[in-house]
Amino acid sequence: MKVLIIGSGGREHAIAWRLQADGADVYTCPGNPGMDTVSTRVPPPGPKPEDYLTATKAVAPDFVVIGPEAPLVAGVSDLLRANGIPVVGPTQAAAQLEGSKIFAKQTLDAAGIPTAAFHATRSVDEARQILESSAFPIVLKADGLAAGKGVIIAQNAAEAEAALQQLDSSLGPNLVIEEFLVGEEASFIVLADGKRALPLEASQDHKTIFDGDRGPNTGGMGSYSDGRILTADQQAGVMQSIIYPTLEYMARTGNPFSGFLYAGLMMTAAGPKVLEFNVRLGDPETQSLLHRIDTGFADTLQRLANGSLEGAKITWHQDPSVCVVLASHGYPDTARTGDEIRGIPEAQDTGATVFHSGTKRENGILKTAGGRVLGVTSRGATLADAIANTYRGVDCIHFDGMQVRRDIGRKGLKRW
Ligand code: AMP
Ligand code: GLY
Repeated sequence: MKVLIIGSGGREHAIAWRLQADGADVYTCPGNPGMDTVSTRVPPPGPKPEDYLTATKAVAPDFVVIGPEAPLVAGVSDLLRANGIPVVGPTQAAAQLEGSKIFAKQTLDAAGIPTAAFHATRSVDEARQILESSAFPIVLKADGLAAGKGVIIAQNAAEAEAALQQLDSSLGPNLVIEEFLVGEEASFIVLADGKRALPLEASQDHKTIFDGDRGPNTGGMGSYSDGRILTADQQAGVMQSIIYPTLEYMARTGNPFSGFLYAGLMMTAAGPKVLEFNVRLGDPETQSLLHRIDTGFADTLQRLANGSLEGAKITWHQDPSVCVVLASHGYPDTARTGDEIRGIPEAQDTGATVFHSGTKRENGILKTAGGRVLGVTSRGATLADAIANTYRGVDCIHFDGMQVRRDIGRKGLKRW
């Protein structure tokens, strides 16, 4: 089985690692230095969808997995499919579930799926009017893709006004203004082929930069996956109240969804509600999730790329897993790059797996090249063991300005 993975982050490194373990011949486009050991890297000739088609044709894979949201929202999957290449990833039209928060909220509303009450606004004046009659805290979300940085929770009118101006100047005037929900978050991801859905185990992200869920939101500072995050009943409830109604609505409106559907959930006192949809695997959730998959990942993706999940089966390790992200100085604002990274072999010697996100090799030296630099992942017989095993690996790695949360997975300990 020959697979091409599009993307260059920790998620794509984890997918490449997992598919190679399943015996696939893996290519990554463009990949990152960490992926050299598990794949052949093929840089696209440029950043446009046509450039990915050119690179894919040169590899001639059995199927393509598109990792990040940007190429999905740009229509790379449609272009590849139009050229007869099987793809894991939704169409450009279905990718609007992530590409537009307004489209996602309108879909949730029309399909009767539990979510925060909201207003969609198209100008700063309209947003101000809504905010005048809102209770605080309130959540402001930019409509388009924002790499996890388009959401601001305002505690009062002054913060809301500042958030409005910040979002308007960086991402434009179209906003979702929504009710603040209280509860614990869970990332629930399924594979979907238009009608069928195969759930992955639940995981939990840690969105803010600092311990204790403080500070600004990031793309994700760490994750864990543990069969105890959602009970079997809760999972069945999410499938019935959220996943199947979404797939049915998308199919009914001529926009069937195929690929990874990620529901960001808030487990409120009134039951699970959708905070957001993503149309791809989460990062860093994938790094911990794929550590828990035992068999069936490559086969399932191949079936999905070819249009049907019938007969697909994934088996799981019961042990929980934890992924800690090492981020660079200044992230999530302006991330510094070019700091030398040391200690990865020592971290691997502890038994941890190290996935690369933002790294580059210069004259043989590995350096930081992005906000999120590395992810360190381990499993353990208990969640406490998985946490300890992961931080043993983390503590071997160093680069100047490294930012690490020390509390990844801790919220889950109450379930043990
Ligand atoms: P999103 O990109 O929509 O998932 O938002 C990013 C993060 O902001 C979420 O993971 C939550 O931590 C927080 N958030 C988003 N919407 C809400 C909401 N309605 N109530 C409370 N927190 C929210
Ligand atoms: N970790 C959150 C995301 O992938 O969007």
